Amino acid sequence: MCEGILLRIFLGLLHLYANVAGTLWLDPPKVVVHHGDSVSVNCSTNVTNHLLDWEKPQGTSKKTDDKKITWTVEHLTEWGTKPFCYMIDTQYNQHKIEFNIIIYKTPDRVSISTVGHTELMIEGGQYELQCDIQNVAPVEFLTVSWFKGDTLVKNITFTDSIKTPVNQSSILQISPSRDDDGVQYRCEAELDLGPEGPQLPLTVTSEPLNITVCYPPVSISELHNKSVDFGYDEVLKCSSDAWPRPQYRWEYIPAPNVRTEDIDGVSLLYIDYATGLNTGTYKCTATNKLGETSQSVRVDVRSVGNTNTSYP
Ligand SMILES: *[C@@H]1O[C@H](CO)[C@@H](O)[C@H](O)[C@H]1NC(C)=O
Ligand SMILES: *[C@@H]1O[C@H](CO)[C@@H](O)[C@H](O)[C@H]1NC(C)=O
Ligand SMILES: *[C@@H]1O[C@H](CO)[C@@H](O)[C@H](O)[C@H]1NC(C)=O
Repeated sequence: MCEGILLRIFLGLLHLYANVAGTLWLDPPKVVVHHGDSVSVNCSTNVTNHLLDWEKPQGTSKKTDDKKITWTVEHLTEWGTKPFCYMIDTQYNQHKIEFNIIIYKTPDRVSISTVGHTELMIEGGQYELQCDIQNVAPVEFLTVSWFKGDTLVKNITFTDSIKTPVNQSSILQISPSRDDDGVQYRCEAELDLGPEGPQLPLTVTSEPLNITVCYPPVSISELHNKSVDFGYDEVLKCSSDAWPRPQYRWEYIPAPNVRTEDIDGVSLLYIDYATGLNTGTYKCTATNKLGETSQSVRVDVRSVGNTNTSYP
């Protein structure tokens, strides 16, 4: 019995709803428009009425006939406007339908910067990059994406329902490693306005930000033990990956036929006309402001026939 009453109420509501929905409609029902562009929308009814009109912020409305009225605006500039069409039927019932309108504006500028430091970073440190998006609306359709090189590393959306243009920002926290030296970060602001929106993506991208990562030398490469025949020349090479580029220091038993030279971030030690005096340990140390590392190798000069250990 109770169900019977509920069912009748439900059917009654359905009937009322169908009635209201059927009496007024808009074509198009929804628009997405760039701020300052034109809009034209028709409001139609299928019932005889006393009054059919638009409640509108700007523009003009013009009746085609008693059952259709067009609202036209050349340059829609009223942010957050909620125009509606209303009708008073012959029983003096008022009907109303809201026009769903989204006014958008792409950002004037999207920029990327470092927060409280320069683009120079130390390996393993904690840093923040900031993306600033200027003058965009509506922010609820905005996605800000962060890219490291070509890889998407973070994206964020906003829930603020404000309709007027705002400035927004997003922070990306990074802890760079030595492999990130020279990497480019950028951020992208995209308005995704759905199927009614423009087909082309509305994306504004920041300039890239190059980061420089400083790191200490941790190992020496290219330095090996050597055996050299008496009277021959030999070269030892010492290099280490570090930024800023390391400085090199050699330790060995001094001899007049040994000299060192640094070229292109590598240090070379030359032994000219090796003699027995050059036999021994050679140690190379690479240093920058963040640390140092070293490695020792042996050089053995093999005597051939008559061993003359004095320098010629
Ligand atoms: C609105 O109605 C007018 C007159 O019938 C018609 O010319 C126009 O194309 C219609 N506009 C839309 C958006 O349907
Ligand atoms: C945002 O990131 C999520 C995963 O983190 C991804 O599924 C989504 O496609 C991204 N959105 C955009 C617009 O790139
Ligand atoms: C950033 O790096 C790119 C390529 O690695 C280079 O062409 C550009 O000049 C650099 N920009 C700055 C500001 O250093």
